Order: sequence, then C-alpha cells, then structure tokens
Amino acid sequence: MTFNPTLIASSFAVVEPHGTKITKYFYEHLFDTNPGVRSLFARHMEEQEDRLWNALGGLVANLEDTETVVRILRNLGARHVAYGALPEHFPAVGASLLATLGHFAGEAWTPEIEESWTALYGVITATMSEAMTEAAAGTAQSAHSG
Ligand code: HEM
Repeated sequence: MTFNPTLIASSFAVVEPHGTKITKYFYEHLFDTNPGVRSLFARHMEEQEDRLWNALGGLVANLEDTETVVRILRNLGARHVAYGALPEHFPAVGASLLATLGHFAGEAWTPEIEESWTALYGVITATMSEAMTEAAAGTAQSAHSG
C-alpha cells in the first residue's frame, strides 16, 4: 500500500487551522483509549503537543523527498527508545492520530484520504520501529561491553 502525498498534504492543510485543539484532542483520545501509555509522558504536555505537531508538519512538507522522510523518522525513532516507547505502541498512537485527523477534517475526510494516512502511518511505524530496535540493541551492547 502506498500513500498519495497530494491527499496527505491537502487533508493536513484542512486540519491545520484548528491549531493546538488538534493535539489536545489527540492526547485525550490516546489516554482515554490507552491509559497505560499516559505515564510515559513526563514532559509538560503543551510543549509535547507542539513538538508532535511540528514533527508531523515536517514530515508532510517533505513527503516527496523519501531520503529526508526516512532520515527524520530514523532519528525520531532512535530518540524514542529513551522515552520508553515500544514498537507495539504504534498501533494505538496511529488509531488516535487517524481519529483526530478525521474528527477535524469533518466532511473533507474521504476513504481515499484515510487509506493514504493509513499507508503513511505504516511507513512511519516501520521506519521508526526499525531505528528503535537498532538503537535499543546498540545501547544494550555498549552496556554489555562497558
Ligand atoms: C507518528 C509517530 C510519532 C511522532 C511523529 C512522534 C513525535 C514526537 C516528538 C517530536 C517528540 C519530542 C521529542 C523529540 O523530538 O525527540 C516525542 C516525544 C515522545 N514521544 Fe513520540 N512520536 C510518535 C510516536 C510515538 C509513540 C508510538 C509513542 C509511544 C507511546 C511515543 C511516545 C513519546 C514519549 C513518551 C515522548 C517523550 C515525552 C516526554 O518527554 O515527556 N511517540 N514524540
């Protein structure tokens, strides 16, 4: 399954004017449906909300440039090891992200758009998870030898 960068960018543009309401909705949805991940988020939530949204915006702006997207996602994935995030958390986060985008896009949310975001989230999950697993293995190895 591949994603359509034009559909991703146009739907992101529809949602974007809602500003910080979007990320608030996202975290409420995530913590309501998966209370177990709440304790991983130590940082001041408002700061975290901006960071997540900026990261998504950075991805959407670079979708035509696969190398940049992969680099962003690998770096992001490697940093997530320290946050206690695990590859198995990705489906929950993806479900909340899609529910949030759908909520704010309203009538503009079509099956094609949903399919594209699902495919993009598949790429995000695969790339971040791979980098997380590698970074975690590297940490374990250096802890072992040192
Ligand atoms: C679409 C996928 C995701 C994106 C774009 C994303 C983005 C971010 C960004 C930008 C930060 C700020 C720190 C940094 O830049 O390194 C962050 C922190 C964090 N993320 Fe993610 N993330 C994603 C998926 C996940 C998943 C699946 C989890 C697992 C529960 C997770 C848990 C966390 C935690 C716990 C923090 C640290 C919060 C704190 O410092 O209190 N993220 N994320």
